[in-house]
Amino acid sequence: MTTDIFARCRSYTDARAARSAGLYPYFTRFEGSDATIAQTPMGEVVMCGSNNYLGLTSDPRVRAAAHSAIEEYGSSRTGSRLLNGNVSLHEELERDLADFLGMPAALVFPTGYQANLGAIASLVSRNDVVIIDREAHASVYDACGMSPAKVWRFAHNDMEDLERRLASCPPDANRLVVVDGVYSMAGDLCPLPETVQLCRKYGARLLVDDAHGLGVLADGRGTSAHFGMTEQIDLITITFSKSLASVGGAVLGPEEVIDYLRHHARSLIFSAAAPPASLAAARAALGILRDEPWLCRQALENASYVHRELAALGYDPLPSEAPIVCVPFESAVPAMFAWRSLMERGVYVNAVLPPAASPRLRASFTATHTPEQLKRAVAAFAEIRELTPPEWALEDFAAQGAA
Ligand SMILES: Cc1ncc(COP(=O)(O)O)c(C=O)c1O
Repeated sequence: MTTDIFARCRSYTDARAARSAGLYPYFTRFEGSDATIAQTPMGEVVMCGSNNYLGLTSDPRVRAAAHSAIEEYGSSRTGSRLLNGNVSLHEELERDLADFLGMPAALVFPTGYQANLGAIASLVSRNDVVIIDREAHASVYDACGMSPAKVWRFAHNDMEDLERRLASCPPDANRLVVVDGVYSMAGDLCPLPETVQLCRKYGARLLVDDAHGLGVLADGRGTSAHFGMTEQIDLITITFSKSLASVGGAVLGPEEVIDYLRHHARSLIFSAAAPPASLAAARAALGILRDEPWLCRQALENASYVHRELAALGYDPLPSEAPIVCVPFESAVPAMFAWRSLMERGVYVNAVLPPAASPRLRASFTATHTPEQLKRAVAAFAEIRELTPPEWALEDFAAQGAA
């Protein structure tokens, strides 16, 4: 029996086991400012693990915008937008985002995570029901945890299950359905037409987290535009940390809802505003996206090339309609070993492990990957195809009680 809250840290062995087996895939140090090449302690790698879908983090126009925002506003406003943190960049970006996505109004948050927390946790209350796709992003789960509403999950993209849940809502309960537009752990899309139809039938509002659809689908206008139904979506949340080459997030929806969130979203009110440089970078990236939609198509084409090549090599990449290529593994150690083997061959991808999702390597591609870099990634996958983790790694890992 212990009363020490640190006891759980001492009994946490997973990371230790992975490190001692030489298979720890997290917190790698990446140096350099190129979107597609990075320096790591294991050598130079082709970066196939960022969400920099348009490759705009290294675009000179985006960098210049960030530089001049620092000159104009300094490094930070050191306060919440509600009080001293609001700058004209916030409002210009909100107008640009609403205009680009075809939504009535937008509200910029310090991060996309906070946009989800703010939108969901401040709109639902006791006696309300939130129904979320089982594979919704962690920020959606965390937002639900902050609210006293009932939270029900439906099986991933399963419309029959969604309907069952909607049908069992108490008659007087307000309902919110939350889905991702693009599910980032595979690259599959939400069946938006059917989802919208069910929400209409059962009087539920619909929030689409389009973190991975913005800048990718429908010339960058996202999943709702892809299905031609933006006008039927109640709320969209986005992040600037993927295609918009920055940090920050936003909620888009009706003006009255946005004004309500402006005054009730705790993740906005009680957290410092995103730095001006981040806002300016996102705004510049949005301008480039609007003017150069070929970038979205190039990112998709690069990923579908790799998807095809990996399938031809005998891998079984998950179906994807985004610049994301996921290769599933039966268990954690083989996935981590494959991750390390790719690193040794100069290719970085994300190792995804439970509880985030079942074990897989998640590669993501940008518009600015060169054909040579894509070939290098495919060649590395080809080389590691037949490799299996050494027995000692499996034993060492198992001995420490890790998955
Ligand atoms: C689907 C989804 N929603 C929200 C977020 C949070 O965005 P941010 O990085 O801006 O906090 C992410 C980022 O991983 C995401 O993938």
